[in-house]
Amino acid sequence: MTKYISIQDAIKKGKGAVSVRGWVHRERGSNKFKFVVLRDSSNIIQCIFERTDFEQRWEEIDKLQVESSIMISGDIKEDKRAPTGYEVHVTDYQIVGTSDSYPITKDQSVEFLADNRHLWLRSQRMIAILKIRSTVFAAIDEYFKGEGFYEYHSPVFQAVQCEGGAELFTVDYFGKKDVFLGQTWQLYAEPAIFALEKIYTISPSFRAEKSKTSRHLTEYWHAEMEVAWAEFDDIMNYGEGLLKHIVKKVLEKHKPELTYLQRDLKVLESTIKKPFIRMTYTEALKILKDKCKMNVPWGKDLRTIEEEKLTKLYDVPLIVTRYPKKVKAFYMTEDPENPDVVLGCDFLAPEGYGEIIGGSHREHDIDKIRKRLVADGEKPEQYEFYLDTRRYGSIPHGGFGMGVERVITWICGLDNIKDSIPFPRTMERYKP
Ligand code: 4AD
Ligand code: MG
Repeated sequence: MTKYISIQDAIKKGKGAVSVRGWVHRERGSNKFKFVVLRDSSNIIQCIFERTDFEQRWEEIDKLQVESSIMISGDIKEDKRAPTGYEVHVTDYQIVGTSDSYPITKDQSVEFLADNRHLWLRSQRMIAILKIRSTVFAAIDEYFKGEGFYEYHSPVFQAVQCEGGAELFTVDYFGKKDVFLGQTWQLYAEPAIFALEKIYTISPSFRAEKSKTSRHLTEYWHAEMEVAWAEFDDIMNYGEGLLKHIVKKVLEKHKPELTYLQRDLKVLESTIKKPFIRMTYTEALKILKDKCKMNVPWGKDLRTIEEEKLTKLYDVPLIVTRYPKKVKAFYMTEDPENPDVVLGCDFLAPEGYGEIIGGSHREHDIDKIRKRLVADGEKPEQYEFYLDTRRYGSIPHGGFGMGVERVITWICGLDNIKDSIPFPRTMERYKP
């Protein structure tokens, strides 16, 4: 039986007989030759069919269309003119699946590509991004496992909000209407640190975001962690360690993909080498005023535009801390030195990308939590299971959530978060 190897391995071999299989990425022909650029998940390679070798089958070869699947045997050799520097002279082949006239051609509109997302996944651009995506997920697991964390899972059907009621997706749960798709694992993770102490997850989160921005999805993958006995600095240090590890792994494995995406590697390299910049919200306002001529009144949350201007000043992520209490969630610890601010931190990616991680130390004072829930219009009775974490052996703790697509968007240097996930879900799109 023929042994097929990947195109990348064939190129590595460089000479002699090889068998490869994949899809027709490009094709052009003349009377005497047919040139097919073959694609598999590993790379592309030019293959040449010579008419004199296949006189009987020439009609079929001549008609080969883009995205037909084909198995090819032939001799590989170096050829500087070929797209990846090597060429296969075909000695035998078998067409596995013919292809209709492929709808995706050059210069299609963004809308058309979104409607044909299932086909656009095969593009060199999406292949590069999806490979990096896979490495990012692996790196998250590696980092947390390496730091002694247990993987732990929260339910997706949830009965309480955590990050603001306005952005909840309600589910019809056998006729009951007080069930939501999880925005975060947090309220179901905090109870588990009393069992496992250090936990993490990577799971989908759902936000009914009405914002049509380049960084909001309604369904995104959320890497979250929660740690017992943690002080505020520990949370920030884990976030910095995690991002450094992810960027390091992507740089180790994906220089060709990043180059294909025309990503400037300098910022990624400084993210690994240099410490992240830490500043308080109040300091951030001062920098925005002095360096960006933007006046944000104290107490207002940073908007996308302000994060963008601020982070364009730096070549490593920023960690902004101690936001005003009223713009942050009810569970964040009040700063013992200033009750108007909380021990929360947002990690902002440089170059204008903005928030990629949101985290905090967790408030332990049960009365303060209750008051803030009421202020948010919530009924504390519904949070009794959560408040039990503060009743039975409460300890200092904290955690964060990282938007995996936000991180991929930044690492790949993409204009829009939609390209960082195979089938993006937004306010306007849930098909195909
Ligand atoms: O800042 P957020 O809302 O924090 C939480 O959910 C905490 N409960 C996490 C925790 O402490 N366990 O969300 C965390 C991160 C954001 O920093 C952002 O990267 C990402 O989730 N995120 C989104 N990503 C894509 N599309 C959206 N609509 C997002 N909303 C949040
Ligand atoms: Mg946030």
